[in-house]
Amino acid sequence: MTSLQQSIELSQMLHLQNKYVKEQGAPVVVKADGLAAGKGVIVAVSLEEAYEAIDSMLVEGSFGSAGSRIIIEEFLEGEEVSFFALVDGETALPLESAQDHKRVGNGDTGPNTGGMGAYSPASVLTKELEALVMESVILPTMKGMAAEGCKFVGVLYAGIIVEKKTGFPKLIEYNVRFGDPECQVLMMRLESDLAQALLAACRGELGKVSLEWSPESAMVVVMASEGYPGPYKRGSMIRNLEEAELLWPTVKIFHAGTDLDSDGNFVSSGGRVLGITAKGKDIKEDRERAYDAIEAINWPEGFFRRDIGWRALSLDQLTSNL
Ligand code: GLY
Repeated sequence: MTSLQQSIELSQMLHLQNKYVKEQGAPVVVKADGLAAGKGVIVAVSLEEAYEAIDSMLVEGSFGSAGSRIIIEEFLEGEEVSFFALVDGETALPLESAQDHKRVGNGDTGPNTGGMGAYSPASVLTKELEALVMESVILPTMKGMAAEGCKFVGVLYAGIIVEKKTGFPKLIEYNVRFGDPECQVLMMRLESDLAQALLAACRGELGKVSLEWSPESAMVVVMASEGYPGPYKRGSMIRNLEEAELLWPTVKIFHAGTDLDSDGNFVSSGGRVLGITAKGKDIKEDRERAYDAIEAINWPEGFFRRDIGWRALSLDQLTSNL
């Protein structure tokens, strides 16, 4: 293709994209179609911002070849829920839902992280909405992949926005793994043998499996190294983990980034270091137990969010722990 043909094609594409954005109105989402290290999504709050984002990707090449094709998507406003299903290629078994807290700071402020805490179940995703997610998201994905000769066996993790405007669940992202730290709260509530369920998935026998879940809820609060998600130091000593875990029988501390020094002491070795997890009759009880355990841990170089579960709790319940 000559450079003249290329510029004609580009200007036609720009015209179409801009026309489409104008029809959709703002806010609207402009995405680079390729992988852009998590940075290729621009939520444009005005049409001007949307036109600029399109120009920057298509004309200026701000994301290189990842932005040479773009996607214009509806802006979704609502609560984000993590929904999981175990899949053997022909049967999909829904797991329980969870909700995590991606921003580093209290009140959902600061940069995004892998997740600073989570709880399960996510009350915003009712049983009716779960059934709708299975019908409209999980099953079509599983069947579509099999039809394309790419049968999927494993965990499908759908990031769902329960849209404020309509109350409907919409898919915002897909992963093929458990979520972290959502997995920790799911494991606290799962009463069946996970290994048997995973084996059944591998053997194509999920149809014979039914999973038992505790009716209780669970919460995890992540303790991270000071500085995370930016640069942080490794090697600081963490004391009293055993004492913290003994406070309540339903407290479990998951290690995500710890190591042992030459004297057998726990030291930090990552950004997100510990998942302090508790199970209880409701989110309020989970919170009390998880934060009690955190109080018992002696790790001056660590930090955590103090408001995990805030969406599920009324403000006055929350402030008693601040
Ligand atoms: N907690 C979000 C994730 O695992 O992607």
